[in-house]
Amino acid sequence: MAKSVFVIAIILALSAIRSTSITITERDLETEESLKNLFDKWVADYGMEGDLDDKAKRFLVFKDNVKYIHEFNKQGHSYHLGLNQFGAMTNEEFQNMYAGGRINHRRIRRGGAIGGRYMSEKVENNISTCFDWRQKGAVNPIKDMRPCGCSGAFSAVASVESMLFIRNVTNILLSLSEQELVDWGFFTAGCNGSSAEASFADIVGLGGLTMECAYPYTGKQGTCQPYFPVANISGVELVAPNNETAFRIAVQNQPISGIFNTSCGFNTGYAVTVVGYCYTIDGNYWIVRNSLGTSWGEGGYIRMNSDFPDPRGLCGILTDPSYPTNIPSPATSTDDHSYSVE
Ligand SMILES: *[C@@H]1O[C@H](CO)[C@@H](O)[C@H](O)[C@H]1NC(C)=O
Ligand SMILES: *[C@@H]1O[C@H](CO)[C@@H](O)[C@H](O)[C@H]1NC(C)=O
Ligand SMILES: *[C@@H]1O[C@H](CO)[C@@H](O)[C@H](O)[C@H]1NC(C)=O
Ligand SMILES: *[C@@H]1O[C@H](CO)[C@@H](O)[C@H](O)[C@H]1NC(C)=O
Ligand SMILES: *[C@@H]1O[C@H](CO)[C@@H](O)[C@H](O)[C@H]1NC(C)=O
Ligand SMILES: *[C@@H]1O[C@H](CO)[C@@H](O)[C@H](O)[C@H]1NC(C)=O
Repeated sequence: MAKSVFVIAIILALSAIRSTSITITERDLETEESLKNLFDKWVADYGMEGDLDDKAKRFLVFKDNVKYIHEFNKQGHSYHLGLNQFGAMTNEEFQNMYAGGRINHRRIRRGGAIGGRYMSEKVENNISTCFDWRQKGAVNPIKDMRPCGCSGAFSAVASVESMLFIRNVTNILLSLSEQELVDWGFFTAGCNGSSAEASFADIVGLGGLTMECAYPYTGKQGTCQPYFPVANISGVELVAPNNETAFRIAVQNQPISGIFNTSCGFNTGYAVTVVGYCYTIDGNYWIVRNSLGTSWGEGGYIRMNSDFPDPRGLCGILTDPSYPTNIPSPATSTDDHSYSVE
């Protein structure tokens, strides 16, 4: 019981899934030169903008992070941290970029958030049964919101894309525009923070979403561009909060937008989309889709322990769940079925 109270209880990664992050060895840490080599490798993999002065500063931050990750991994937690694109950012920078600055620095320094930032890889487990919308072809490839606090838009759009496909409103799984929400948002605040619920409200207010390719993502708030909605929703429904059963039933119907707090507090966090769950011999978990690219977690996803004793769920995942509804039409108004666990 005590074990599952901690963030450590997050269950992660199949070894079959190859991590895209760089592996750190003892030798990499030995000398300044070996650290520099690792840094150069990281720069080559992830790229870095900025001048030489900036690069020198980044190297200092990078070294700290590498040491932190290595120490953490040596402690034998149930998940590993990996060196990904956030390798040369400080915690504060990471949090400010994605959370609109609402952070508790003292708490973050204790490690939770840096863990969230580098989540990666692997724990040995045996999957027995899963309900996974990805396996039904109902979930798009992972997107990357980059430095812009618009997780609400990404979470909402992912839920809408999947819902419209599952309800047969769209024949294929569309990729829809987050940028439309970032630029035009009324209830949301561009890159300064947004919730999934506010984003659903904006989608209704804007008369629907256009295609991703017609209104591509730029990673910053821009001026409003004209758009032609191709996908619409009728509104938003809330799942009963802090109720694991209600959440599970909701996920069986469609992916659900929820909140993930990287420092595992409960009040606020950033928005993610839960696309399924698994029961395993080692414990049960939610399959959580993030929008920080594929080098975060396991190809952009994490598995979060769903046997968490607090009703708010691990890292607050059950505190504020919501989902979009579709417009009933003669063809789709009888879609009251739910899917059984496979
Ligand atoms: C579960 O994993 C263990 C080793 O970790 C293995 O011995 C066992 O056969 C696995 N069970 C199933 C059902 O896959
Ligand atoms: C969507 O279409 C598929 C294939 O025709 C069908 O199996 C499924 O029940 C439909 N779903 C809804 C919600 O109508
Ligand atoms: C976001 O914050 C910036 C800087 O404070 C401000 O200039 C901008 O107007 C804000 N945007 C929105 C949509 O609130
Ligand atoms: C989309 O749905 C909303 C809510 O039902 C409605 O107000 C809006 O007019 C719809 N947009 C289009 C283009 O039909
Ligand atoms: C949780 O949700 C389930 C399913 O909707 C419901 O039966 C149950 O009463 C709820 N529990 C609480 C404590 O509200
Ligand atoms: C996580 O929760 C803590 C405590 O409730 C809060 O201070 C912090 O701002 C939250 N993190 C994010 C990213 O919102």
